[in-house]
Amino acid sequence: MHIFITGASGVIGSHTLRYILGQGHTVTATDIVPLPKDLELPPGSIFVEVDCTDFRAVENAMLQKPCDGVIHLGAIANPRVGSSQCLTRAHITRTVHNVNVTASYNVMRTAADQGIKRIVQASSVNATGLLYSHDSRRKFEELPLTEQSPAHPEDPYNLWSCLALDAAARACLLGLTANESSFLHGHEAFYILHDNLTFGKACREIAEGFYDDATKNGVDPDTVTAKELVQLYYPGTKLREGWWTEGNERRGFYDTSKAKKMLGWYHEK
Ligand SMILES: NC(=O)c1ccc[n+]([C@@H]2O[C@H](COP(=O)([O-])OP(=O)(O)OC[C@H]3O[C@@H](n4cnc5c(N)ncnc54)[C@H](O)[C@@H]3O)[C@@H](O)[C@H]2O)c1
Repeated sequence: MHIFITGASGVIGSHTLRYILGQGHTVTATDIVPLPKDLELPPGSIFVEVDCTDFRAVENAMLQKPCDGVIHLGAIANPRVGSSQCLTRAHITRTVHNVNVTASYNVMRTAADQGIKRIVQASSVNATGLLYSHDSRRKFEELPLTEQSPAHPEDPYNLWSCLALDAAARACLLGLTANESSFLHGHEAFYILHDNLTFGKACREIAEGFYDDATKNGVDPDTVTAKELVQLYYPGTKLREGWWTEGNERRGFYDTSKAKKMLGWYHEK
């Protein structure tokens, strides 16, 4: 297959690119900055400098070679730090929102217009309102979190995560299926998390408002159970029955089983 990938020079993008090439596929790799120096593209693959907020640039790049799929990773990934696209610190919130939402829409919409039916859009678990939400307003209707958990976005990054995940995907699916009598295609959302996020770090993140010292409240992150953490920090939160069973007391706060069902991906520990 020939895959169009944005954010190819970034952390996830460069790993993804190496993986795709290793599988024998070719790519149109794009970013606003060059690829890492050690990443050489084989014949049949190209790099195009594309700012995804420029829809003409996205379209021109996507038309250079017929693409079978699109992976969209080009975004301002850290709304606390921003990027060179933010003119000043004061502009970060608006720039993060405008760049990320516009880029997602441009890429998904162009892919839909090209009839490309395989689209991967990176979002974030923060769509639920985790990191970047105000500590006092962080809440969970039920744990573990699933892709259906209600979102409480209150910052530009989380807002984009929700929009990218759902609204833009729906809009572009409409584009893909406009001439068909019924909706033949759907979109799926699922969590993929690095295993060190499933309990250790995630527990501390959820429980400690992400940044406080885990030991501050006498919590030993190596032995504490998930239920104890919830009782300590988010008392009253509904816990899904059958999730934290005997022998499984330190299971994570994110249900990633959909990724296993769809991709065969699962945490090894
Ligand atoms: N790394 C994580 O833990 C994590 C977690 C959740 C979600 N994500 C999401 O995954 C995606 C990739 O994240 P990452 O960690 O690789 O970030 P990264 O910052 O390493 O990579 C993002 C890339 O996007 C590029 N980019 C920025 N603005 C662009 C624009 N206007 N047009 C085109 N390219 C642009 C950057 O140059 C960069 O190379 C992002 O959407 C991020 O929000 C990452």
